[in-house]
Amino acid sequence: MKTHHHTMISWHLVQERFRAILLFILFHFLFAPIVGTAQDNDSKAPYGTYLGRRIAPAMTHLAADWLIRGDRESEEDPDRLLSHLDLKPGLLVCDMGCGNGFYSLKIAKAIGPEGRVLAVDIQPEMLQLLSRRSIEANVENIDMILGTTTDPKLPDNKVDLVLMVDVYHEFSDPKSMLEKIRKSLKPTGKIALVEFREEDASVPIRPEHKMSKRQILKEYEANGFQLLSQYDGLPWQHLMFLGPKD
Ligand SMILES: C[S@@+](CC[C@H](N)C(=O)[O-])C[C@H]1O[C@@H](n2cnc3c(N)ncnc32)[C@H](O)[C@@H]1O
Repeated sequence: MKTHHHTMISWHLVQERFRAILLFILFHFLFAPIVGTAQDNDSKAPYGTYLGRRIAPAMTHLAADWLIRGDRESEEDPDRLLSHLDLKPGLLVCDMGCGNGFYSLKIAKAIGPEGRVLAVDIQPEMLQLLSRRSIEANVENIDMILGTTTDPKLPDNKVDLVLMVDVYHEFSDPKSMLEKIRKSLKPTGKIALVEFREEDASVPIRPEHKMSKRQILKEYEANGFQLLSQYDGLPWQHLMFLGPKD
């Protein structure tokens, strides 16, 4: 009996170790594209450049769990971020590059049943994950839109706010995306852009997944946008509001 018990314990240990090794490998292959430090820098730009910036690869849906990790609350302070978006019942808000909907679900609740979230992503798997999560959360005011790398397929002249969290730097065609987003906005509409701070070396994110304010302004001004306001109090990210320059 005792021997059997010991065998069971050691088998359990083997399984645990095996799981740990698997997780380690998964982490390196799936998450390493985003999590990292400035020392990981390489000079290659396999996904091209835009106005002097290296474009990052899109984060794969296989790593979607990383987007709903427990640490995200302390790293990003999403409630603080949301409190600066001025969300009101009835708004039409686009969560651009929504992933599995970490923010879509929060926005959907904040704007109430009269409001709608347009959740856009280019990976159908991300939208499927979001669809499952919104059913579980009993949220019914999210429309899922499968966009392309050049067109988010938004309605013209209707959107109050386009939130982009940790996605703009992944656009393979930022020019075309900004043109389409611009067309989708109401005259009073704006973009809330959230990007990891490149200026801050202590933010442990790979360089191609970070942006400086200077680069953001360079790219947005080149596409007919102007800075409306900004909030500098998030732990790791810039929050900048941009609207069409008339
Ligand atoms: C790092 S994830 C962030 C997801 C989400 N915004 C969040 O904060 O949890 C970036 C997402 O942007 C999507 N994406 C990349 N390029 C896109 C594009 N041109 N249009 C829409 N989504 C895009 C990717 O498929 C991926 O799901």
